[in-house]
Amino acid sequence: MTSGVWTNARILTMAAGQGPILQGAVAVLQGRIAWVGAVADLPPDYTDLPVTDCRGQWLLPAFVDCHTHMVFAGTRAREFEMRLDGASYEEIARAGGGIASTVARTAEATEDQLVAQALSRLDALLSEGASTVEIKSGYGLSIEAELRMLRAARRLAGLRPVRITTSWLAAHAVPPAYKGRNAAYIAKVAIPGLTAAHEAGLVDAVDAFCERIAFTPDELRPLFDHARALGLPVKLHAEQLSNSHGAVFAAGYGALSCDHVEYLDAAGIAAMKAAGTTAVLLPGATYAIRETQMPPVEGLRAAGVPIALATDMNPGSSPLASLLLTMNLGATLFRLTVAECLAATTREAARATGLLAETGTIEPGKSADFTLWDIESPAELVYWIGFRPAMTRIFRGETA
Ligand code: NIG
Ligand code: FE
Repeated sequence: MTSGVWTNARILTMAAGQGPILQGAVAVLQGRIAWVGAVADLPPDYTDLPVTDCRGQWLLPAFVDCHTHMVFAGTRAREFEMRLDGASYEEIARAGGGIASTVARTAEATEDQLVAQALSRLDALLSEGASTVEIKSGYGLSIEAELRMLRAARRLAGLRPVRITTSWLAAHAVPPAYKGRNAAYIAKVAIPGLTAAHEAGLVDAVDAFCERIAFTPDELRPLFDHARALGLPVKLHAEQLSNSHGAVFAAGYGALSCDHVEYLDAAGIAAMKAAGTTAVLLPGATYAIRETQMPPVEGLRAAGVPIALATDMNPGSSPLASLLLTMNLGATLFRLTVAECLAATTREAARATGLLAETGTIEPGKSADFTLWDIESPAELVYWIGFRPAMTRIFRGETA
């Protein structure tokens, strides 16, 4: 059923400035939202469509996970134990562990194995109401291995009712063959690989890791210039472990988002505001690596920078496969309000992926991507820890 009316729902459209509709209905035509409003106002045009009585369930936009690294092989459970013994994330990375160890495991896996492993992680997100998921490369670090990751990511969209958007993250770490030659790695792998990925239709955006253990803004400039030449939007892992001034750099390219941003300063906030760049906060990483520096939520709020939340699902800094728990962590660790958390995983996450015209709110013209929850109030979606209330997911107008 791609057309129908969902009636008798309590609706949070998440459209900016709009409150709940307590006796609401949504009309869907050919998988797109045609109308939303009070049941009493439903236009006669839609009265012949099949009806679903929601019996007072809460209807919200489907979630968007706007930052994941879910295609990878193996785990880093051993590094987790090392961190419990006192080693830091950065020390482990400098000693040859970290991203490099996942690159080695990923190289041993076939594309089919990558798909199968990612699928079980994807299913965890879908079971909690996600319908759009961003997936990055970055555990290949050679042209062919990076392309393989994105091919695996694209295949997931054919296996489940979900929208997948991909990011080219070849500039995630410097592989051993290029040690100390960061600029050469960008020139010989990250840039020509991006051209190939773009030609193969594998890439929707370009990301990079700007950090003292990865790349400086100057090293990344040729890559972002190339993205711009190809017409691809950019985003950046910025100010996660130190203030490397990545946010100002990325905002200069009109970045969709700057992600992590624990060490973001006032200049970075101002640049993001001016560029319309979303701050993607990743509390799973803060929690898992026991980071004590919190992102400048007050400053972002005061400036009016949009705030999104995402899992950052990856085997190292954030082995987290739950957007519900991500919201709980965002509220508890970062002091985001319930309303901010719900917006951060719907409207603002859609904005961060460049898909706000397509999904993220319940508004006419958008894809009919929504969830129905057996809850008393939407705050429950942020409040529970490790419990998922009963939920039905509708993707493009079909029960998924
Ligand atoms: O977002 N910061 C860089 N990238 C990931 C971590 C990747 C990894 O540790 O494997 C992140 O935290
Ligand atoms: Fe990340």
